[in-house]
Amino acid sequence: MSEAAATLSGPVEEIDIRELDDIIENQFGNDKENLIMILQAIQRRYNYLPRPALTYLAPKIGVPFSKIYGVATFYATFSLEPRGRNIISICLGTACHVRGGERIRERITDSLKIKDGETTPDGRFTLESVRCIGCCSLGPVIKINEDMHGRIGTDEVEKVLNQYE
Ligand code: FES
Repeated sequence: MSEAAATLSGPVEEIDIRELDDIIENQFGNDKENLIMILQAIQRRYNYLPRPALTYLAPKIGVPFSKIYGVATFYATFSLEPRGRNIISICLGTACHVRGGERIRERITDSLKIKDGETTPDGRFTLESVRCIGCCSLGPVIKINEDMHGRIGTDEVEKVLNQYE
């Protein structure tokens, strides 16, 4: 296969087969026992599981596409829809809710013009609401990627969002 042809079409960006091979072959030895870890690695790379990548994966590890698809849809941690470069998790658990979590969500929604579960057209952010992320004493809390932002006020939302490209 030529260099130019070594991509699969995906809805957000082209998927480089060499990158997939690096994950599937080099990191996980084409071993179907590593399916979950392979899916995690693909999701880390693309922020979601592109369908062409799963189609490519199936024969590489000898697992039917339907089974891979079943695993990908079973675990809430996997997304089959394109997600933004930055994932905002707004906590709406009880502790954060009583401390104004809903107002924070509204401010994010107003600022980015996206609702829960949506991604900005430029692919910068995806907004997801969650129920408790384990630091209730810091409520209201938002998590952006791996960063926790606790005791956040509505007037601080813009400043926090501006930290992410
Ligand atoms: S309720 Fe928000 S972190 Fe626990």
